[in-house]
Amino acid sequence: MGEFVKRVFSGIQPSGKIHLGNYLGAIQKYVKLQQDDSFETVYCVVDMHAITVAQDPKILRERTLEVTAAYLAAGVSPEKSIIFNQSRVSQHAELGWIFNCIARLGWMNRMTQFKDKAGKNSERMSLGLLAYPSLMAADILAYNATHVPVGDDQKQHLELCRDIAQKFNNDYAEQIKALGFGDQFFCLTEPMIKFGGAPVRVMNLRDGTKKMSSSAESDMTRINMNDDSDTLAKKLKKAKTDADAIPSELAGLEGRPEAKNLIEIYAALNNSDSQTVLNQFGGNQFRAFKSALIELAVATIGPIGDEMNHLMKDEAHIDQVLKDGADKARIIAEPIVQDVKRIVGFMV
Ligand code: TYM
Repeated sequence: MGEFVKRVFSGIQPSGKIHLGNYLGAIQKYVKLQQDDSFETVYCVVDMHAITVAQDPKILRERTLEVTAAYLAAGVSPEKSIIFNQSRVSQHAELGWIFNCIARLGWMNRMTQFKDKAGKNSERMSLGLLAYPSLMAADILAYNATHVPVGDDQKQHLELCRDIAQKFNNDYAEQIKALGFGDQFFCLTEPMIKFGGAPVRVMNLRDGTKKMSSSAESDMTRINMNDDSDTLAKKLKKAKTDADAIPSELAGLEGRPEAKNLIEIYAALNNSDSQTVLNQFGGNQFRAFKSALIELAVATIGPIGDEMNHLMKDEAHIDQVLKDGADKARIIAEPIVQDVKRIVGFMV
């Protein structure tokens, strides 16, 4: 991948409450990557993805501000990273269309997330929901991003992104060479899923076999980033566990998804790893552990939530961050998409 600039791209949908899964699976990685000067970092609020299912326009706007506030509150800096909302940079939609003509219908039909969301109602879903992973590939490749930090649930979409890049490079190989781009126009993006001690998948507090998600109907199943201390305490106290004591070895967590989840959350919030947590708490009942977890959650997530709420009082400021970010994003994406148009034979 030598010839490509080391560039990180990632995004979050403004389609629900921003929760601990988003934080540990994505935002915490964004902050760490931004500290590595060898990377350019581009972080998006993917509003165009959100409308693949029905959204109330007022709430969409609110959520867009809220995701941005979460980025800022968690430490993503507009000085170090580009922060913007997707719909402000038209190159996403333009490249998305070209990729709709590269991706195969069979590839889309195999996407498990589409199948999960559509269920038995696929005939009634929007065409956008099916095409979603193609737009996601465009998000990434409009910047020729080499690295994409995400949670484990996005793995299949990132494989599809590589398939699209590869097919584009093959289908247009002659033109790519003729225009002086060598053998590869698009890079084959690396997913960054496992990252330090953080869990790749934060699970639902009431059912450890399901992932924590903003679409679960009960708020008790997830920790929202702007939950106040009382709510954090209530949710963690009521989180499902089992009757056994905390084990001392990792093997003792097998077949105990709720126990494993809480240990992993503790480890991630404490910048540690599961074995270290078991060394400390092995042999204890969950009651005592939960008190420590609540204290840790209040100390780590609490201030982020407070800062989010504070930032949300100044919408104009958040919007200015997004506008400035979009201007910077365009400077990268515009020439790349312009080259793509020349490669496919559009008059530019
Ligand atoms: P979205 O909005 O569902 O989730 C945003 C990020 O949070 C991660 N995540 C989790 N990680 C661990 N445990 C969980 N329970 C959990 N829930 C969510 C997701 O893996 C993701 O990293 N398609 C993407 C958005 C997107 C995107 C992109 C991402 C659009 N274009 C380009 C990267 C690059 C999505 O729906 O994420």
